Amino acid sequence: MTDAEQQIILEHTRITPVPLVPEVRLYLAEQLVPLWQATEWRAAAPQPPPFWAFAWPGSIVLARYMLDAPDTVQAKRVLDFGSGSGLAAIAAALAGAAEVVACDMDPLAAVAARLNCALNAVEVNYVLGDCVAQPYEWNVILAGDVCYEREPAEATIAWLRMQASRGALVLLADPGRHYAPVDGLELLQTYEVPVLKELESTDMKRTRLWRMVG
Ligand SMILES: C[S@@+](CC[C@H](N)C(=O)[O-])C[C@H]1O[C@@H](n2cnc3c(N)ncnc32)[C@H](O)[C@@H]1O
Repeated sequence: MTDAEQQIILEHTRITPVPLVPEVRLYLAEQLVPLWQATEWRAAAPQPPPFWAFAWPGSIVLARYMLDAPDTVQAKRVLDFGSGSGLAAIAAALAGAAEVVACDMDPLAAVAARLNCALNAVEVNYVLGDCVAQPYEWNVILAGDVCYEREPAEATIAWLRMQASRGALVLLADPGRHYAPVDGLELLQTYEVPVLKELESTDMKRTRLWRMVG
């Protein structure tokens, strides 16, 4: 990670306890636009939204679930698919996973996740790239809020289903995004999650945690 990358994160975020998951603190932003503009200024090119600067409802419920039921991941090899801030990966490590890999395609997400792991004193490995292209095998796959765009969501869901068929426990947490799957799911829990109005146009999001059926 470069000093400039770290700097942009430290300047636009502050250390904040995660709603519903006070066990974890993250470098979180309160506003999307100034940070997004700053990333585009730095890169002098269009950039993806800084998803990594927010704890999305998906990872919040995954984290809450694992910390309440640590046997879900204890002694398991766990992938956090589209890890953003790294919240779900951090919770998996705190819950006692044997190995945790966080994967995201956004290079700044990698930097943010590393800062967040250090803040919470956990060890998580990081893969920068498309999770769907990763050849490794996991016991548990965490997918928080990854069904927000049509084409990537289709590829993601197909890959997650294939992993579930292969025997992995695939946990999909979704606050009702348009491209989330509607079948082949077993409901595990429903949560009411506090969210930022600027991002979600509401203060609370009902978020469901599903087990994907292979
Ligand atoms: C809305 S954010 C959710 C982040 C995190 N899971 C959470 O719930 O806070 C979605 C993240 O998934 C990442 N992503 C989506 N599809 C991906 C893929 N196929 N491989 C790697 N990262 C992916 C995006 O870059 C983004 O950081």
